[in-house]
Amino acid sequence: MNILILGSGGREHALAWAVRQNPKCDRLFVAPGNAGMEPLARLADLDILSGAAVIGFCEENAIDLVIVGPEAPLAAGVADDLRAAGLLVFGPSKAAAMLEASKSFTKAVCDACGAPTAAWARFDAAEPARDYIRAQGAPIVIKADGLAAGKGVTVAMTEAEAIAAVDDAFGGAFGAAGAEVVIEEFMAGEEASFFILCDGTDCLPIGTAQDHKRVGEGDSGPNTGGMGAYSPAPVLSQAIQDAVMAEIVRPTVAEMARRGTPFQGVLYAGLMIEDGRARLVEYNVRFGDPECQVLMMRLGAQALDLILACAEGRLRDASVTWAEDHALTVVLAAKGYPGAYEKGSEIRGLEALPEDSSRMVFHAGTARQDGALVATGGRVLAATGRGATLAQAHERAYALADAIDWPGGFYRRDIGWRAL
Ligand code: AMP
Ligand code: GLY
Repeated sequence: MNILILGSGGREHALAWAVRQNPKCDRLFVAPGNAGMEPLARLADLDILSGAAVIGFCEENAIDLVIVGPEAPLAAGVADDLRAAGLLVFGPSKAAAMLEASKSFTKAVCDACGAPTAAWARFDAAEPARDYIRAQGAPIVIKADGLAAGKGVTVAMTEAEAIAAVDDAFGGAFGAAGAEVVIEEFMAGEEASFFILCDGTDCLPIGTAQDHKRVGEGDSGPNTGGMGAYSPAPVLSQAIQDAVMAEIVRPTVAEMARRGTPFQGVLYAGLMIEDGRARLVEYNVRFGDPECQVLMMRLGAQALDLILACAEGRLRDASVTWAEDHALTVVLAAKGYPGAYEKGSEIRGLEALPEDSSRMVFHAGTARQDGALVATGGRVLAATGRGATLAQAHERAYALADAIDWPGGFYRRDIGWRAL
């Protein structure tokens, strides 16, 4: 079959790498993709936020399946447009993507289906929000309701910090995403992510991961999109996973179906675990980046069979073949990230590195310029290792990262510290 993947990050490179290994894949395209994917796929320069542009490309190239990587096309309704044109799509409708696009939507779904999550309230003006903060006290969590590129959440340790975050949101710091604010109870505990394929009715867990969101070692400094990740997440024991499926995921999927907006795609449940009990922090409606890199490294070629079963509504009969393995990925970012960073610095030494089922350097922000590989983004590469133990995966990932010759980049040395 001919397959089109939408997106251009490390997540999409990992998806392309896994899908390409499956003999069902004939021709593979990625739009817009990046330089790292060139050996695996044809890159297509498409506006992936335009349903019409993607449909036109699919018709020209006899595409049989579209896999949507990032949230923006999902929130824009591209999956709806493709389905309306008769195409097979992996990824939720615009209505179901509200589970990521609106925090208050998700909280209301949790309340309707009894899923455990932090207590919350929603505000569309600053004064009542400030009163609520004074009544509740700190620590407390302030969230812009809409998509804010990962910057809309403040975990406030003091009332003053919380009130400043409310004033920022209503002052327009997050644009339209901050016109409504959700204020939540602070949850203590250990965070982990759980990935579940859903076909509207049935659900299939496909792995757990933990990531490192802070830019600095010891989980210090500003938040980023993620500086590294590993899978599985030791804190998500089988018993906790079973409880999350029974108390959070299946009730959510049933509630979405009841509302007439069934969820199809991958549900990424961000969880807080304390005293053996998990509560929902948030949903995303796509794979995490860099969590996808470690999940794909572990699933390999079967990822396509699972994605296809999901898109075709056949998850009831699908299962994952698990190996007793671990994967770990280290993100190499441009110096300055997540603040201002330089673009265009040259990266050398990648050609000499081994690439196999235990070692892959996934590209997130690279391009070819006059034959040279150059950095084009903040997060640029994800050096990923797989092994029989987390320590072995760690050693393989860092051997790759250490061998890359990129003076313009940096990476954290302590990815996985909590689990190692
Ligand atoms: P979100 O975008 O909702 O995942 O929030 C970003 C990050 O803020 C999460 O990954 C958590 O680390 C933290 N966070 C969000 N909500 C809470 C909460 N209610 N209690 C504690 N930490 C939270
Ligand atoms: N790594 C976090 C995310 O993809 O949202």
